Amino acid sequence: MLKSQATPNSAATGSTNPDALLFREGMSRAAAAVHVVTTDGSAGRAGFTATAVTPVTDSPASLLVCVNTASRSAQALLANRVFCVNTLSAEDLALADVFAGRSGLQGPERFTVGKWERLETGSPALATSLVAFDCRISDARVVATHHIIIGEIVRIWLGEQKRPLVYQGRHYHEL
Ligand SMILES: Cc1cc2nc3c(=O)[nH]c(=O)nc-3n(C[C@H](O)[C@H](O)[C@H](O)COP(=O)(O)O)c2cc1C
Repeated sequence: MLKSQATPNSAATGSTNPDALLFREGMSRAAAAVHVVTTDGSAGRAGFTATAVTPVTDSPASLLVCVNTASRSAQALLANRVFCVNTLSAEDLALADVFAGRSGLQGPERFTVGKWERLETGSPALATSLVAFDCRISDARVVATHHIIIGEIVRIWLGEQKRPLVYQGRHYHEL
């Protein structure tokens, strides 16, 4: 049997929450596609980088996004009731950092980078994405620190076939 590992760095951090650290370390080993989730509407334009995006069903076509309750974009998403998931190619690595807040740009300023269009809901759709899923929120709930937001997909835009951007081991990679 495989032995479960003790927290890798709890001694170093002095954390009293070893399960969370081990969970983060475990999740960092799993490769994930990188997306920018956007919204627009009466609550304004906003967007953030996300790997916690999962398909739910194909009939109706739906997906879910997990977003921290502290995220400013999450408030806009929930108020606007619409969002668009834009899956990034490796050439949009800089955009991933912008929408993760690593360039210092906040809120609508982030859209000064990238080429943005609209599909049906009015949420910004990235013209250089691999695919864009335009959604209306059909359900949402809070689990501890995160909103789980389910979107019914109303439009899918297929972009050029390019090399995807992947996040693994706390670094970006291109496939
Ligand atoms: C590769 C990567 C993946 C991320 N995935 C998520 C995610 O799935 N959910 C989330 O809430 N934050 C995620 N983040 C962090 C947000 O992108 C970041 O906190 C962002 O600044 C939130 O913006 P806001 O506060 O303006 O909403 C991720 C960051 C990176 C770099």
